[in-house]
Amino acid sequence: MRIAAILVAAGSGQRLGAEVPKAFCRVRGRTLLEYAHARFAEHPLLDDVIVVAPADRLDEAKALTGAVVVAGGATRQASVAAGLAALDADVDAVLVHDVARAFVPAAVIDRVVAAVAGGADAVIPVRAVTDTIKRVDDARRVVDTVDRSTLVAVQTPQGFRRDVLVAAHAAAASDAATDDAGLVESYGGTVVVVDGADESFKITHPWDLVVAEAVAGR
Ligand code: C5P
Repeated sequence: MRIAAILVAAGSGQRLGAEVPKAFCRVRGRTLLEYAHARFAEHPLLDDVIVVAPADRLDEAKALTGAVVVAGGATRQASVAAGLAALDADVDAVLVHDVARAFVPAAVIDRVVAAVAGGADAVIPVRAVTDTIKRVDDARRVVDTVDRSTLVAVQTPQGFRRDVLVAAHAAAASDAATDDAGLVESYGGTVVVVDGADESFKITHPWDLVVAEAVAGR
């Protein structure tokens, strides 16, 4: 089975407040793109790695990773679609990963690859929700408290049979999905879960860079 990884790195990272797009922010001297790319490039069962980068940073992304680099779109979903369009014809399965989760451990990639290689249509790494979760209305009043024992927080890489993900993208009603497995769910596919990891946290807000400095220094 030939398995490829698509690393999406074409977001602006506005919430991070940095001067460069998030994937090009440096932590202890290396970009988030380099940290994420190394983890996939070194995986023995992954044959190809495609980086989806901002259109004005294709050369920079290529220089940092040596990977195949394609231009992203206006939304995450459009960026994933651009990566799917760049896959070689004989790729059977694909992992889609947010470069913002730059410190994903190899063990999580292993679990996702194993599930895909075992024939799963779609697989996502998840963590238990530790905060109490409440629904609130527009007036900032609490509507109810959700039973968190049935909830999980979803990470990446998400793994898919290539034909399932391509069909789910083609059938998508809009291009605003923040998660590829959601498209497969809407399409009627089965999504299974494996354990994620704390180190796979998504670097989104300035505080996350403080944590990233600590993780990178371990
Ligand atoms: O914005 P957010 O943190 O949810 O983005 C998740 C991932 O999707 C990031 O790695 C980001 O670079 C990527 N992305 C993209 N193209 C976009 C928006 C986000 O590749 N248009």
